[in-house]
Amino acid sequence: MREMFDADPARFDKFTLQLDCLLLDYSKNIISEETLALLLNLARQSKLEDWIARMFNGEKINASEQRATLHTALRAPDNASIYADGKNVMPDVVRVRNQMRRFSEAVRNGALRGHTGKPFRDVVNIGIGGSALGPLMVSEALKPYASTQLSAHFVSNVDATDLAETLKRLDPETTLFIISSKTFTTQETLTNAHSARAWLVQHIGAEEAVAKHFVAVSTNLAETSKFGINPDNVFEFWDWVGGRYSLWSAIGLPIALSIGMDNFENMLAGAHVMDQHFREAPLEKNMPVMLGMLGIWYTNFCGADSNAVLPYDQYLQHFPAYLQQLEMESNGKRVDRQGQAVDYATQMVVWGEPGTNGQHSFYQLLHQGTRLIPADFLAPLVSHNPLGEHHAMLLANCFAQTEALMLGKTAEEARAELVAQGLSGAALESLLPYKVFPGNRPTNTLLFDRLDPHALGMLVALYEHKTFVQSVVWNINAFDQWGVEFGKQLAGQLLPELQGRLSGKSHDASTQGLINHSLVRRQRA
Ligand code: F6P
Repeated sequence: MREMFDADPARFDKFTLQLDCLLLDYSKNIISEETLALLLNLARQSKLEDWIARMFNGEKINASEQRATLHTALRAPDNASIYADGKNVMPDVVRVRNQMRRFSEAVRNGALRGHTGKPFRDVVNIGIGGSALGPLMVSEALKPYASTQLSAHFVSNVDATDLAETLKRLDPETTLFIISSKTFTTQETLTNAHSARAWLVQHIGAEEAVAKHFVAVSTNLAETSKFGINPDNVFEFWDWVGGRYSLWSAIGLPIALSIGMDNFENMLAGAHVMDQHFREAPLEKNMPVMLGMLGIWYTNFCGADSNAVLPYDQYLQHFPAYLQQLEMESNGKRVDRQGQAVDYATQMVVWGEPGTNGQHSFYQLLHQGTRLIPADFLAPLVSHNPLGEHHAMLLANCFAQTEALMLGKTAEEARAELVAQGLSGAALESLLPYKVFPGNRPTNTLLFDRLDPHALGMLVALYEHKTFVQSVVWNINAFDQWGVEFGKQLAGQLLPELQGRLSGKSHDASTQGLINHSLVRRQRA
């Protein structure tokens, strides 16, 4: 990369894309113009343009579940017409958007109150995976826009500690629960929901309180009413919204409650800008396509197996975890659309932490480890907290890291530094190898003016579409998740055995040993 930068002063201009408030600099990648042209040929050969059109047009591209994939409709303008199964989905989308607006405004202005007449102060979202990570990530990211009157909490884990530690600090009279579950059959969510309900009824002393303190977001209206949730308090969404693509639907209700519906809709509008761009821009000027094809380059041509996401923004602390589900649940697949096992690598492991914290822990491996780890650096140009020189320092660190990863430090440069520090002879020679940085480590940099709802909407949609681009090239279905079902099924079978209610089927020696050990030790403990 050093040589390519030296040879071409226009490399930054050639290898950046700008859309609205978002800049993608992909010049610090191990690519030439020829590499890019070949990667875009691969995208064309994979019929990417057709697949993009098929997704936006509501075709059932999620073939193993026979469903359309229309999260893009959730951020389309009210007057759009978008069809799934021959039906325009927009009237329903708009109906639920309006319901979210009415509800969130009434809670926020105190018109809607709890059973004892007090206004709500805390909202607890009970959900897991796609029914939690999106709202959690966005609520944190857009904290500067949040109401000071209403705090959002997220309970996911079936580990009772999650619920118990959350409820410990809350007043039942002023707590609103949102049970978020696409299927309304997820064990963790329903277990937490029943325990939360028991807590509320026990503290308020009235079963009727449930109607005022519980709402649900689901596609399964039969199950929400079985749970006892008033149909007026159910926010619907549809099977053409994948769990990990659902934060734009009523699954975003905790976001709307926290930042208000206007801000929520600004986020939808930002995502819609990215949707239009993805749909219309030529491949060579298309941000999600570029990001996706660079990932293909490193995965399938350079042998990289992990991808770091490094937001230089504390508000984006949950962004890597959100992307882990988005990308790894979508493209962590080994069988193609024809049901054949693939003979090439698919999704990389996604991981990351906010900078600058990561710099003082794992960046050592990025700089001098033996692995190739492409990394995305994200940063706002303006901080919501303009305090002294903090933000300039943050940006300086961000840019310095991508520069250092690209340039590295040659033995000659390291030697000159050591000489300047007064070292010589054996002392210098023995230290020298440790001071060399190979460089040529690839990064993308994504800059946005400030982390506002519009920019965040663009950013999330960018990564959604990047994920789709890669699935197309890998010829896999990004929208099912059969791998997760297996674990759910096994846990269900094992539960009665752990409770000592059933001696059950025979397990492998390890699993049986763990069950037996637990039965004995749990009793004693
Ligand atoms: O864990 C798998 C999964 O199916 C995710 O895809 C989904 O987001 C999550 O479970 C939660 O599912 P639900 O919203 O149906 O409770």
